Amino acid sequence: MLTTIGLLLNLVFPILGFYFSISCPNHQQCQQALLSGNDIILHCNSSGAHWYYSSQEIIKPIDLSNVPNVDIMLDGSILIINPLPSQTGLYSCQDQNGSQVVQYEIDFQDVTTLHISHKNLGQKPLQNESLNIDDKVLIFTHWEPWQDCNRCEEPGERKRLGYCYIKEPLKDPIPCWLYLGDVRVWSTRLRPELQVETCIEPCKPSPKLDKFFVTFDNFKLNEESESVWLNCPLGSIYRPLNWEANNTPLTWHDQLSGQEFGTSLDLFSGGRRLQIFQPAIYTCFIQQEFVARFNPMFNPEVLETQRGEEAGKTQQKTSILKALKVILFMATVLVFIGALYRFLRPSQKKRCNQVLLVK
Ligand SMILES: *[C@@H]1O[C@H](CO)[C@@H](O)[C@H](O)[C@H]1NC(C)=O
Ligand SMILES: *[C@@H]1O[C@H](CO)[C@@H](O)[C@H](O)[C@H]1NC(C)=O
Ligand SMILES: *[C@@H]1O[C@H](CO)[C@@H](O)[C@H](O)[C@H]1NC(C)=O
Repeated sequence: MLTTIGLLLNLVFPILGFYFSISCPNHQQCQQALLSGNDIILHCNSSGAHWYYSSQEIIKPIDLSNVPNVDIMLDGSILIINPLPSQTGLYSCQDQNGSQVVQYEIDFQDVTTLHISHKNLGQKPLQNESLNIDDKVLIFTHWEPWQDCNRCEEPGERKRLGYCYIKEPLKDPIPCWLYLGDVRVWSTRLRPELQVETCIEPCKPSPKLDKFFVTFDNFKLNEESESVWLNCPLGSIYRPLNWEANNTPLTWHDQLSGQEFGTSLDLFSGGRRLQIFQPAIYTCFIQQEFVARFNPMFNPEVLETQRGEEAGKTQQKTSILKALKVILFMATVLVFIGALYRFLRPSQKKRCNQVLLVK
């Protein structure tokens, strides 16, 4: 049943637009560096839009409606799931009449080469370097603004992404792999960066993530599986995110200074994924909002000690959480069935019946 919830939520999210997205004014071409492996929406304000992709290697544009990790959405935008560095190139959105609406030149920089540095540990970001030894062509990091602090009123951490750019004298800088194209250059300086620092910010009214999306899940740690990966729904490397284990925040500071043994934040997803080695109650927050809670499935002896410690209050909370979970599931199913019905009714009545019968 839990996988079903996951599946349904995944189907509902794109419709409601909770993925991180970028947009570009109509009739313009925007150049943007991003990271591979992190879902992204490219906006196009034209329902029924057609999308094409081309690059220095693929000169004849390909229709993106046939590409497995690309979804064209109802409003005309595209969702690129887990983009690959090889998907760097030009994305063009055309309206139903075939006229150009907007173009994105995207450099999906390889997240597996991400260089992380923590200011408070004295770790240094990468230095500027010239592309060739006696050349004026410079490789440098173009920093995005700092994201919000991942907690408020209490010490937290904030991060910023830095993309690899190349600058020729008297010219505008260009994201590295848009500049290089299919030219293969070997340099350890050609990498994106992530920088982290500790912060403390007052709480401010944030753009509310709908409480509807609070999710609950159970995980099991046993002899066979020494560790489990937890995934914070709606999380993104482009957004502030915080994990807590039994109400204690998990920090990059502790992890990078080797003080954290029970968990490991996944760098390539900006901490959206968490590897755990010990049972605890794990919660995750996005933009300071609680979005998910993961409970360990205890074996009986552990459960007894836990009960002794926490007593009735927890149980009351748990039953509220359970009720919420059921409501969430019912609502999701209803939304999903509604969407499915509307989507399938005109042409595929038979298939629709089959789907409902299976349920
Ligand atoms: C989208 O397009 C419609 C009609 O072409 C226009 O009225 C609207 O302002 C556009 N929205 C944005 C955000 O550009
Ligand atoms: C497409 O062309 C038709 C007929 O020329 C026009 O009525 C319609 O508004 C156009 N649609 C868009 C999205 O430009
Ligand atoms: C690195 O190069 C960029 C772009 O030319 C420049 O803005 C920045 O100040 C340089 N940084 C250092 C430390 O030289």
